[in-house]
Amino acid sequence: MEEGPVVDEEYMKEIEKARRDLRALISSKSCAPIMLRLAWHDAGSYDAKTKTGGPNGSIRFEEEYSHSANAGLKIAIDLLEPVKAKHPKITYADLYQLAGVVAVEVTGGPTIDFVPGRKDSSRCPEEGRLPDAKQGASHLREVFYRMGLSDKDIVALSGGHTLGRAHPERSGFDGAWTKDPLKFDNSYFIELLKEESEGLLKLPSDKTLVEDPVFRRYVELYAKDEDAFFKDYAESHKKLSELGFTPP
Ligand code: HEM
Repeated sequence: MEEGPVVDEEYMKEIEKARRDLRALISSKSCAPIMLRLAWHDAGSYDAKTKTGGPNGSIRFEEEYSHSANAGLKIAIDLLEPVKAKHPKITYADLYQLAGVVAVEVTGGPTIDFVPGRKDSSRCPEEGRLPDAKQGASHLREVFYRMGLSDKDIVALSGGHTLGRAHPERSGFDGAWTKDPLKFDNSYFIELLKEESEGLLKLPSDKTLVEDPVFRRYVELYAKDEDAFFKDYAESHKKLSELGFTPP
């Protein structure tokens, strides 16, 4: 582990400046989806047992961004380099999680509480810790429970697919989950409950959420109650962004 940042008044000021730069960058480049995916993939490698992986910026190294699950994320890493250069005090770990929080905010999603102070690490987790879209409920549970997350977290966080799309050259899948992939709302769950959503994508791992009775209860709630989704999403996203992190 590298040294953690000193979170003093100056660090907080830099965070606020970086937040403004990120809002501008993410709006002007329409890159909210890939920023959210970067934050999730840096964090989602966490293993609660060994306390390895997690939101520690290690995805910036080729060893990790070249994992097949991370295909395309170099684009997001490169887009954030100028923000890092302007605010060098801020750790990559904080910057990537802040970008995820801002991505949700500027596309109309809930405000997510952001606590800075994450340490950067140069130790990359082994390949294979992120979920496989071709698998079902038991696999999703295995992966998210390993992080220390719950069934509710799995469904709420899957709502992140309200943003963005799959790219054939990255994952082999193609298309968006919702009609407006740059708007963060509960439409992912509404589409998921429809038998047929013409032209929209449903990964096997998305379909699992309506097939498993425990997951389905959350899908039904979030489809009919966007406030409930926003509240649970904000809590689950904060948990994801703080895996293995004890605020200084
Ligand atoms: C994209 C799988 C959970 C956010 C994707 C793609 C796949 C995938 C296959 C397409 C990548 C591409 O071709 O560009 C999964 C699986 C999950 C999961 C199996 C397990 C539950 C999440 C979570 C979040 C998230 C928890 C965030 C909270 C995104 C976003 C995109 C995406 C925003 C779009 C990226 C873009 O437009 O470039 N995901 N994902 N995903 N995922 Fe997930």
